[in-house]
Amino acid sequence: MTGSAYLRWAKTRPPARFDLTSSGVPYLPLRELSVSLDDLEISGTAAYGYAPLQEAIAARYRVDVSCVAPAMGASMANLLALAATVRPGEEVLVEHPTYEPLIAAARWLGAEVRSFARRAEDGFRLDPAEVERRMTERTRAVVVSNLHNPSSALADDHSVRQVGEIAARRGARVIVDEVYLDALWEPAPRTCLHLGETFIATNSLTKLYGLNGLRCGWILGAPDIVERAWRLTELFNNIGVHVAERLSLMAFQNLDTIALRSRALLEANAAALNEFYAAHASFLEVRPHAHGTVSFPRLRGGDADAFCDLLAARYETAVVPGRFFGMPDHLRIGLGVEPATFRAGLDRLGRALDE
Ligand SMILES: Cc1ncc(COP(=O)(O)O)c(C=O)c1O
Repeated sequence: MTGSAYLRWAKTRPPARFDLTSSGVPYLPLRELSVSLDDLEISGTAAYGYAPLQEAIAARYRVDVSCVAPAMGASMANLLALAATVRPGEEVLVEHPTYEPLIAAARWLGAEVRSFARRAEDGFRLDPAEVERRMTERTRAVVVSNLHNPSSALADDHSVRQVGEIAARRGARVIVDEVYLDALWEPAPRTCLHLGETFIATNSLTKLYGLNGLRCGWILGAPDIVERAWRLTELFNNIGVHVAERLSLMAFQNLDTIALRSRALLEANAAALNEFYAAHASFLEVRPHAHGTVSFPRLRGGDADAFCDLLAARYETAVVPGRFFGMPDHLRIGLGVEPATFRAGLDRLGRALDE
């Protein structure tokens, strides 16, 4: 059936007391934006985007405003990016493992999905040679996430640029889902669009800023791609939700402060996770966690599905089974919870491993 197996699971599974499934940080409460009703309005312009928000996005990523198209979250940004580049019957080359809705969206558009490997033994590195080996004459888009979901591996500019060159030689675009890239906490967050117009970046305020409910996402791309995205938006949602646009603008004005909270939480949890990994190296194979909101260890010699079931049933703790990323011997641990909950979840994970 059309849809995403992973999101279906995420939305319908039983709740867990120690929930380490999220790939985002805890939600930011409205009161932290210090909003007054006078700052809001129900309806704004009925044309193309809310100009102040468009400009805020362009300024943060240092691109021209003509390179920005808004979207309902990174989810819609990915759908728009794919729809703007691929027609039914054409091919999309997607990293494996990947965030499964990317594959589901490409298939829903009638594209044929091929994959290229990001190998666990290589630290899930983005390997341009592997992309080249798997491309065909029909490949219209290469899709990667950076940071990588599920491993949080960083693809450096050199590899990303090389992938762009390989794609450009065949007339394909490279869609880079950058929804976790701001987790490098650089003063001026990078984007692949700076590496050339072959690239399309997708992003949102959802994951690193705890602003899931605003659905503030966007595409950064060459003006021809952005124009196609705007035209598709006429069909999908026509205009944005203006109240959310106003709140998103306020969030942009406070993003560095909001980021401090996320960064502190993720750094505390990363330290705890690395201690945990060092103590459980006989059960879990993984590189130390450097950045990002998720980690993707391999359960040595075990069945991760059965392990996740045991963890939920006996230890009230949830992680994401690797099967949703096409790697059933792995599990994805999310770091985006309060440190006390994270440590308690890890403690339970450890006890389940011992069992
Ligand atoms: C790689 C990736 N892209 C996009 C999304 C969806 O983002 P949004 O909530 O902004 O639609 C997720 C959510 O987990 C994700 O992991």
